[in-house]
Amino acid sequence: MSQRLRVGMVGYGYWGPNIVRNLVRLDSAELVALCDASERNRARFEDAYPGIPAVESIERLLAEHEVDAVVIATSAPTHHAVARAAIDAGKHCFVEKPLTLTSADAEDLVRSADAAGVVLMVGHLMKYHSAITWMKEYIASGALGEVLYLYMQRLNLGKVRTQENAFWSLAPHDVSIALYLLDEMPESVSASGAAFVTPGVQDTVFANLRFASGKMANIHVSWLDPHKVRRLTVVGSKQMLVFDDMQATEKIWVYDRGVEPPEALPYGADVQLRFGDIHVPWVPLKEPLLVEMEHFVTCCQTGAVPRSDGRDGLRVVRVLEAVDESMAGGGTPVSTRVEV
Ligand SMILES: NC(=O)c1ccc[n+]([C@@H]2O[C@H](COP(=O)([O-])OP(=O)(O)OC[C@H]3O[C@@H](n4cnc5c(N)ncnc54)[C@H](O)[C@@H]3O)[C@@H](O)[C@H]2O)c1
Repeated sequence: MSQRLRVGMVGYGYWGPNIVRNLVRLDSAELVALCDASERNRARFEDAYPGIPAVESIERLLAEHEVDAVVIATSAPTHHAVARAAIDAGKHCFVEKPLTLTSADAEDLVRSADAAGVVLMVGHLMKYHSAITWMKEYIASGALGEVLYLYMQRLNLGKVRTQENAFWSLAPHDVSIALYLLDEMPESVSASGAAFVTPGVQDTVFANLRFASGKMANIHVSWLDPHKVRRLTVVGSKQMLVFDDMQATEKIWVYDRGVEPPEALPYGADVQLRFGDIHVPWVPLKEPLLVEMEHFVTCCQTGAVPRSDGRDGLRVVRVLEAVDESMAGGGTPVSTRVEV
């Protein structure tokens, strides 16, 4: 077995403790030190994990502790600078989503990680959710037929944010799922949104992703909605899938339904609707964050390319950025082309 990966953790606010809780469960990794700019959060960490040192800056973490990899869960505006410091020091790097706030910064991280020969992975957590990996395999098996389009809704009343709009706050997961399931980068996006609570910060966004293959994805996010909804619907030429993340166990529904096109029917017949069985497959659930951390450690130890690598992070950032550009332009389609 390879040596344990020595990890330095950066950021112990709301999300960082969840990552740390899973990192310390891994036999393949060792949490060497933590860094957080907040004294209060360092104290919280030291209470929970006595014996593991906590420092206030990435510079001190890198200078004073021998680490192979750095895991970053600081606020998004700091991701680029903190990740660059780690990559420049030759450390493998895991960065929470969104990778950066601009595609230029994301490209910079991808190129820097390539040049340094280190792993760059982004926290697109849903790619490690057993229900999503089940759906990915089901689509690959061909049972769904050709995927035609999908749509997602992530709605709730709250949590209202004032620094980032609802799309940046809620949709990184949905965008990463759409790109993963369709296995394609959109050519363009068009979006409309409205800011009802904080001027200039959209609370509700409808975004349409268009793909060269003709597929389409629609994402609706809002923190100003009476329903708590986290639902994904995938429509294929043979079957249809629904993933409802609000269900405790029965999360996936497979509808054996469709439309028989005229060419599949006797000459002169009209289209026919097909109604078949509805299945609820049993999908064993494992904590996605644990799967994600295991995957990061394995990639660092073997040199494998992560399922959510830096390029994937860049693609998602470019879509988020293009949604903002489209909303600013009154909903006009915006190209999502990326260079690396
Ligand atoms: N994957 C998920 O489902 C998920 C869920 C929630 C948050 N997140 C992501 O996790 C990241 C952190 O979110 P959060 O809600 O925990 O934020 P937060 O503000 O609660 O915590 C951030 C922490 O980072 C520290 N910090 C900020 N800049 C720093 C720096 N330069 N050096 C050292 N420490 C620094 C802060 O002191 C704070 O303790 C974000 O990227 C967010 O999008 C992911």
